[in-house]
Amino acid sequence: MASTALYTLSAILLLSLTLPIPSNACVPSDRAALLAFKSTLHEPSLGLFDTWSGSNCCHRWYGVSCDPETHRVADINLRGESEDPIFQKANTTGYMTGSISPAVCQLPRLSALTLADWKGLSGPIPPCITSLPFLRILDLVGNQFSGQIPADIGRLTRLSVLNVADNQISGQIPTSLANLSSLMHLDIRGNQISGEIPTNFGNLRMLSRALLSRNKLSGAIPASVSYIYRLSDLDLSLNQLSGPIPTGLGKMAVLATLNLDGNRISGPIPTTLISSGISILNLSRNEIQGYIPDVFGPRSYFTVLDLSYNNLSGRIPKSISAATFVGHLDVSHNHLCGPIPAGSPFDHLEASSFTYNDCLCGKPLQAC
Ligand SMILES: *[C@@H]1O[C@H](CO)[C@@H](O)[C@H](O)[C@H]1NC(C)=O
Ligand SMILES: *[C@@H]1O[C@H](CO)[C@@H](O)[C@H](O)[C@H]1NC(C)=O
Ligand SMILES: *[C@@H]1O[C@H](CO)[C@@H](O)[C@H](O)[C@H]1NC(C)=O
Ligand SMILES: *[C@@H]1O[C@H](CO)[C@@H](O)[C@H](O)[C@H]1NC(C)=O
Repeated sequence: MASTALYTLSAILLLSLTLPIPSNACVPSDRAALLAFKSTLHEPSLGLFDTWSGSNCCHRWYGVSCDPETHRVADINLRGESEDPIFQKANTTGYMTGSISPAVCQLPRLSALTLADWKGLSGPIPPCITSLPFLRILDLVGNQFSGQIPADIGRLTRLSVLNVADNQISGQIPTSLANLSSLMHLDIRGNQISGEIPTNFGNLRMLSRALLSRNKLSGAIPASVSYIYRLSDLDLSLNQLSGPIPTGLGKMAVLATLNLDGNRISGPIPTTLISSGISILNLSRNEIQGYIPDVFGPRSYFTVLDLSYNNLSGRIPKSISAATFVGHLDVSHNHLCGPIPAGSPFDHLEASSFTYNDCLCGKPLQAC
């Protein structure tokens, strides 16, 4: 008995030396899910999916990678614009049509799903995607995806990147979105998303970039946004937002870019915005009125300060000469009046930064 066992053992050892059992072989159910996922996609020019054959889906299937320990499929990373030699050889950017098969939800350890910049992918985001508990990255930018963001997206507690920009997504921002406690990067720009920004948006405590521009969002900017401590980039431009600018936005620790241009925002410019750490501030094309706050100082450092196409009145405040830097200034198309202050922030500016006001004068416009 013992010798038989020994014989069997050595046979196994010998076999494993001559025919190495692939230690990273993929799980058959993962392989089946990937093949079903592939079956609803069409990528004619590069032939990327030709590599999706053979039994080991963890080995040289283009864009697929597995967890080295569990051997489960962890990432699907397919980008239509890539430096990959396959793209350089074909001298083309990718084009893919088809839709996301719900079979992708049969990959229980999936942590990243990237189908970016293929231009032609369409259909909905499968709602079952919210049942993938390990999902960290969902990147579908630059396609024709339609339908809504799944209502229970908030279940994805590990999600840190949600990018569906430049698609045809409609419907509202789900209330559950604010439950994405790991979300760092939200990009829904360039869709047809309507309704209000959820009032609990400020619950997204890990968020550092919130890019919501070029949609049909309406209602007021929720004051809770200013509680997002890590937020450095807030882009709400080119929507239909109304109401005032929350004062809290000027008191945020690391907010550096604030784009609210192209909305229906009214009320005054909060003084806090001018003496904040914000360096790109675009409030152009709104209904903002009142005076430009006279609180510029050494903390004011603007690479962009665009206040054009509003209903601002009064003078350009003298204190603006005390700003550390004003790169691009535009106050055109308002109702400003009086002398343009002199000083270094203005020496490089052209008349177009000041035109179409009621009675501004002095360099670079005509003398007062
Ligand atoms: C790649 O394509 C572009 C136009 O699509 C062409 O101008 C360029 O010469 C091509 N490069 C090579 C190496 O074929
Ligand atoms: C957010 O999460 C909490 C706690 O898990 C839950 O009670 C609540 O229903 C969730 N909200 C939404 C809108 O899904
Ligand atoms: C500010 O926003 C307006 C309106 O969307 C846009 O036309 C302008 O180019 C932006 N300004 C800068 C400096 O980017
Ligand atoms: C512009 O502001 C003035 C007050 O400064 C106000 O009387 C007027 O109604 C405003 N115009 C618009 C179009 O909001």
